[in-house]
Amino acid sequence: MGRFYITTPIYYVNDAPHAGHAYCTVNADAMARWHRLAGDEVLFLTGTDEHGQKVAEAAEIHGIHPREWTDQTARRFVEAWALLDISNDDFVRTTEERHRETVQTFLTEIYQNGYIYKDVYRGLYCVACEDYYTPEQLVDGKCPVHGREIVEMEEENWFFKLSAFQDRLVEYFERHPDFTLPETKRNEALSFIKSGLRDISITRSSITWGVAVPWDEGQVFYVWYDALINYLTAIGYGRDEAMLQHWWPYSNHLIGKEIIRFHAVWWPAMCMAAGIEPPHHIQVHGWLLVGGQKLSKSMGADGPVRLSDITPASLVSEFGTDAVRYYLLRDTPLGTDGDFSLEGITSRYNSDLANNLGNLVARVATVVGSKCGGVGPAPGATTDLDAEIDSALDHATAAWERFAPHLALEAAWRLIGATNHHLESHAPWKSDPGVDVDAVMGTALEAIRVVSVMIAPAMPATSREVRRRIGLEPDLAPGAWASTRADRYRGGNPVEKGDPLFPRITSTS
Ligand code: MSP
Repeated sequence: MGRFYITTPIYYVNDAPHAGHAYCTVNADAMARWHRLAGDEVLFLTGTDEHGQKVAEAAEIHGIHPREWTDQTARRFVEAWALLDISNDDFVRTTEERHRETVQTFLTEIYQNGYIYKDVYRGLYCVACEDYYTPEQLVDGKCPVHGREIVEMEEENWFFKLSAFQDRLVEYFERHPDFTLPETKRNEALSFIKSGLRDISITRSSITWGVAVPWDEGQVFYVWYDALINYLTAIGYGRDEAMLQHWWPYSNHLIGKEIIRFHAVWWPAMCMAAGIEPPHHIQVHGWLLVGGQKLSKSMGADGPVRLSDITPASLVSEFGTDAVRYYLLRDTPLGTDGDFSLEGITSRYNSDLANNLGNLVARVATVVGSKCGGVGPAPGATTDLDAEIDSALDHATAAWERFAPHLALEAAWRLIGATNHHLESHAPWKSDPGVDVDAVMGTALEAIRVVSVMIAPAMPATSREVRRRIGLEPDLAPGAWASTRADRYRGGNPVEKGDPLFPRITSTS
């Protein structure tokens, strides 16, 4: 049995959860669910990033204390993830006491190891990014990401000696070619390191909303320096050495492409400075875009649409949890940008879910009802679909192992297609005496059983419902993936037709 510790970035609570956040969280969830099914011991962490100027400003705009604001907004993330059936084992909030302690212990360790010093900071800062820029990086004097005004800062701060880690980081990347993937993102991080690293100001004296610097009470840590440490808060750093050793070597950070530098450059250097190994793996994904842009406006039927206006709740109420999960996992491979549209989700829903999966299950139940007395027949010792089943499982296993849920689902849908084809070519619904209806239906039921396992990481409720309808135990035990090939659909189960799993959608409102 292996181990798999997976994290999402912790989301800023200046804003409500939207489809872009859901994309990352659903992908991490499917990965966690697959590893549990494959028999691995899994820890899945998500949470909220609650300090920093951006959050303090959002609270001020709403006229409430940051504490009240963060409580409200963090709750919205918890609710959104419940709606999307997210199976996180823990949820870290950076305003929690356990996190404050971890940050203070971790950074004190770095301070004592001699990698933190005091200096005057002068620089250009974008509050929306919570990041620094050099004059050359600005576009028309403004932030290159948000187009926002840049703030000129001058403070006496504590600095982290990032420059001291340049050679060690290059060496680490070379010794661990899979540390950051995909390859293009690895190269981006490595060339950033090779271009020369500058020390970073890691504290603020001008704000109070943050974790206090233990050796200098007038300052709080810069939000990124507090945030990254969340990955250690949840696994007992400074509190439970056995837990830390249990999980840290198996850590996987799933992150969006704009925060590579923090995760693949700063974070491993911080770990080295504190005397622990860098995280095991960083998997980078692209952005969901609307009309080719991340946050800006594009025209929809009722006016401008922004991705940030598309909430998980609105999607779930229109399409249902599993359809939203399926679309997010299937349509945009991890590593590339994807276009998010209501037409796109509707068309995936109708073709893949209503026509292919939904029809297959309904059709099999109907024929078993009319030709087999409602009782599912057992497949023969070998079936026409054995090769397709083997290949689907092999491809899906390889895909999940390398963070490619879209390919794992593609493999499941190839099997669904082959099973529909099998039914059409034997046409068991016609009363042709040359057709062995029991054998044909047993084969189809066996394929549906395998499909129910293959879709479980992506569509857990649909998997349970399909299994229930063909007379199987709905819940899959941990490790069930590994025994899928050896198990067999046992005949003699009642098969139920039920309502359409995915009634066709004719228009989007
Ligand atoms: N708080 C930091 C992360 C700290 S992790 C130690 C942060 N938060 S964020 O809320 O701005 O973004 C969190 C994640 O959401 C990022 O990985 C980002 O890429 C992802 N997404 C935000 N909008 C997105 C899309 N439109 N599409 C896909 N993912 C996007 O950064």
